Amino acid sequence: MSTGNAINLSSRQQNFKQLSLSTLCKSIAISGLILFLFYSFLYSHPYTRSTNLFMPFIERKEPASSDNHTPNSPINLSHIVFVLLGSVNTWKYRKPYIEAWWRKNITRGHLWLDAAPTGELVPWPSSSPAFRVNEDITRLAVNPKSVVQIRMYHSIFEAFRVENNKDVKWYVMADDDTLVFVDNLVELLGKYDHTKYYYIGTNSESIHSNAYISFDMGYGGAGYALSYALVEALASEIDGCIQRYKHLFFSDYISQSCSADLGVDLKIEKGIHQIDLRVDISGLLSSHPSSPLISLHHFDAIDPIFPSKNRSESINHLMKPAKFDQSRYSAHIYQSIFPRSFLRRPLQTFRPWQKSRPPFFMFNTRWLSNNPCEAPHVFFLESVIESNNIGRYHVVVTDYTRSSPSNLPICLSNGNHSANPIHKIQVFSPSTGRKEAGRIECCDVKYVAGEDTVDVKLSACMKGEMLA
Ligand SMILES: *[C@@H]1O[C@H](CO)[C@@H](O)[C@H](O)[C@H]1NC(C)=O
Ligand SMILES: *[C@@H]1O[C@H](CO)[C@@H](O)[C@H](O)[C@H]1NC(C)=O
Ligand SMILES: *[C@@H]1O[C@H](CO)[C@@H](O)[C@H](O)[C@H]1NC(C)=O
Ligand SMILES: *[C@@H]1O[C@H](CO)[C@@H](O)[C@H](O)[C@H]1NC(C)=O
Repeated sequence: MSTGNAINLSSRQQNFKQLSLSTLCKSIAISGLILFLFYSFLYSHPYTRSTNLFMPFIERKEPASSDNHTPNSPINLSHIVFVLLGSVNTWKYRKPYIEAWWRKNITRGHLWLDAAPTGELVPWPSSSPAFRVNEDITRLAVNPKSVVQIRMYHSIFEAFRVENNKDVKWYVMADDDTLVFVDNLVELLGKYDHTKYYYIGTNSESIHSNAYISFDMGYGGAGYALSYALVEALASEIDGCIQRYKHLFFSDYISQSCSADLGVDLKIEKGIHQIDLRVDISGLLSSHPSSPLISLHHFDAIDPIFPSKNRSESINHLMKPAKFDQSRYSAHIYQSIFPRSFLRRPLQTFRPWQKSRPPFFMFNTRWLSNNPCEAPHVFFLESVIESNNIGRYHVVVTDYTRSSPSNLPICLSNGNHSANPIHKIQVFSPSTGRKEAGRIECCDVKYVAGEDTVDVKLSACMKGEMLA
């Protein structure tokens, strides 16, 4: 998620030395690529099976795949079709969220609308994804509320009809207020074989939402990905499946149900975020997850993620470093040393999604503390530039500054040193593109007591190096 750089300043480390400190940068630790695939047993509709039970077992085919769907060819952005769900009433407000990450003529897919845009929405700008109007699916619905929900799910199959087979590997559903980090998404999906059945997403951060709706459902606001093979298999039976679940009031629930009936369960990936949280999510964005940030959602329900910026400015600001690495948000300085095992717990700056009893969240959190030995000095992304003036190396320089002056007292148990004079953290990283998956980064810190800037140099961790 974020490069939540955490710097531990201790007495020993304040004097102009190279320090090996925990920058707790991004790494990927996604294991378990093995899914139990039940599809071979549920391949055909149970009521229409004609196989004679006493016939010898026939070797079943792999899920159908068309000619240009070879399993291991490398994936790029043009293999992903985005299915963005919007409506003419909300688009005016949601447009900045999508345009912040949509790449004109590069990202593929459509915004699916309930009606043709008119008035101030036309002419349709080329910076927005092209739109399509959903077909009329009232025949499949039981009441007006389910029309909306079924329309959303049905969009996948309308997209499948429009963009099918032209080198498509994945269909990615998202709402019109979802921010997608597309390069990280490509890397994530590249780990999976699109010629097999995959349903990749996440459930809510809110225990109550999951308990009330489903722990097994990929929330569409967070976005979820269906492999080409899965969509192709679902497509032939889709009206029947929708009929079976037309009483359900959540399109994502219908989606998980249809996939489940084909033997495919949700594969949770942690970088995908529904953001069923309120107010200030900086604590979550500054934690030290080992999975890269894939998506964020619900910008209308939270404060702007950068203090002093409004919502659309905040999002554009977050996307600025995307060229280098889609995960630079904040940097924290602690006046004590904490291990990564502690720092990876998000600071609970946010509030629960709805009124309920604790526990609220699907993960552990840290309380905000006034103790100067525990509370971080918080710096937010200010700028990022690529510089070729530093020796012969191309270097990316990312600056983080405070949003307000700090007056945290000194942590006396660590000697008489304060981080209050520091106004800026300058992080130097190699310009070799985005961080490699599966790597954690370490850093060296240069700081002269009393100065206002800390320099941090990111580099690969040495073998066995602990962030503690
Ligand atoms: C993606 O890969 C395909 C080959 O599968 C290639 O034709 C296409 O140009 C590539 N697109 C990008 C954006 O690299
Ligand atoms: C995008 O595609 C359209 C139509 O295919 C073309 O007219 C336009 O020049 C392209 N724009 C860019 C920036 O490539
Ligand atoms: C956010 O700020 C930008 C630039 O100052 C401005 O153009 C935009 O209208 C603002 N958006 C909102 C929703 O206030
Ligand atoms: C800490 O150092 C400052 C000057 O560097 C000094 O004025 C202050 O008395 C010291 N505090 C303690 C508790 O030693």
